Amino acid sequence: MSKRRNILLLGGSGFIGKQLAFALANRGWQVTVTSRRPHRNRELLVHPGIRLLAGNITDPTSLRELCDGQHAVINLVGILHEKRKGDFRRIHVDFIKAVVDACSDSGIKRLLHVSALGADQATGSSLYLRSKGEGENLLHTFGQRGLQVTSFQPSVVFGKGDNFINQFAGILRWMVGYFPLACADSKLQPVYVGDLVTMIVNAIDDPDSYSKRYQACGPEVFSLQQILELIITTLRLPVRVLPLGKGLSRLQALILQNLPGKLFTMDNYRSLQTDNVCHDCEPCETSLRQYIRGLSVMFGNKSNYDRFRKDYPRSGNPEGYS
Ligand SMILES: NC(=O)c1ccc[n+]([C@@H]2O[C@H](COP(=O)([O-])OP(=O)(O)OC[C@H]3O[C@@H](n4cnc5c(N)ncnc54)[C@H](OP(=O)(O)O)[C@@H]3O)[C@@H](O)[C@H]2O)c1
Repeated sequence: MSKRRNILLLGGSGFIGKQLAFALANRGWQVTVTSRRPHRNRELLVHPGIRLLAGNITDPTSLRELCDGQHAVINLVGILHEKRKGDFRRIHVDFIKAVVDACSDSGIKRLLHVSALGADQATGSSLYLRSKGEGENLLHTFGQRGLQVTSFQPSVVFGKGDNFINQFAGILRWMVGYFPLACADSKLQPVYVGDLVTMIVNAIDDPDSYSKRYQACGPEVFSLQQILELIITTLRLPVRVLPLGKGLSRLQALILQNLPGKLFTMDNYRSLQTDNVCHDCEPCETSLRQYIRGLSVMFGNKSNYDRFRKDYPRSGNPEGYS
C-alpha cells in the first residue's frame, strides 16, 4: 500500500474547509486541520485520515512547525467582517506572506489558496475584495520562487453548513409579512461546495493548474431577491421580499454592523455593488434550485417533505419540479 501524503489545511475547520478535509482524506491524503476552537469541530475526527490541532496559525513559529513534513498546503483562512480595524489586511495579506515564508522554510512545493470572485487589489468594490485580491497577487508573485501556486475565486458558496442560504432560510422561516432586503438586484452565481471541493482536489497534482487563478460559479445567475423568493416559495413561507433602495440598504448595513453577529456590514454592502458572476469560466453543474428544494427536508416542513419525496425520483432536473 502506498504511503499517505500529508496536507495541511489552514482554515480547514470552516464551512468549505471541512468538506475539503473529508474529500482529501477519502482520496488517501493524511490531512491536518487547524482551529482556534477544535472542540467545536470534533466531527472531523470521525475520519482516521484527519488530524485536528489547536493552534495559533498567525504565530510564525507555530505555522512553521505545522508546515514541517507536509507535502502541500491549502489556505482557506478568511473573514467577512473585521472585528478590529486592520483585520482584513492581517488575515488576507500579512498572513499570506507568513504562509509563503513557512512553505519555503519547510521545503513545501505546492500551495493552493481560496480567494473570492471579484477579488481585485485595485478595483475591488470593498475592503474585503481588495484585501483578498492583494493577498492573491502576493501569493502568485512569491509563488514563482519554487512554490507552485493555484488559487480559486468562488462566487458565493452554498451547501450544508453555509452562512448564506441556510442563514436566510433560518431567518425567513420565523418571519411573517415583509422581509426588507438590501441590494436586492445584486447578481450572484452561487456555486455548490462539493463542486468547488472537487476543483481544488483535482488541481493538487495537476501541473496545468500551476500559476492559474480559477473562477468557480454555478450554472445559473440569480439576483439576491430571486434567491430569497426561491427559498420562500419552496418552503411555502408567509413572507414577501421588500427590496430596499440604495439609501435604505446603506442604512440597514449601518444598523446591522453595530449589532452582535454583524449580519450585514457597510463593507458587505460595497461588495454587493458589483455583480458576483463569472466571465471566463466553465460553470459547475450543481443547481442552487435543486439544493433549495432539499431545504424543505432540512427545515422539517412535513407537506414540503412529502412533495419532495414524491417528486424526487421523477427527474434529476431541478427544472422538472413544479
Ligand atoms: N463561503 C463562501 O461563500 C465564500 C465565497 C467566496 C470566498 N470564500 C473564501 O473561502 C474561504 C473559506 O470560506 P468559509 O466560508 O469556509 O469560511 P468560514 O466557514 O468562515 O471559515 C473560516 C476559517 O478561517 C479560520 N480563521 C478565521 N479567522 C482566523 C484567524 N484570525 N486566525 C486563524 N484562523 C482563522 C477559521 O478557523 P477557526 O476554527 O480557528 O475559527 C475557519 O477555519 C475564505 O477565505 C473565504 O473568504 C468563501
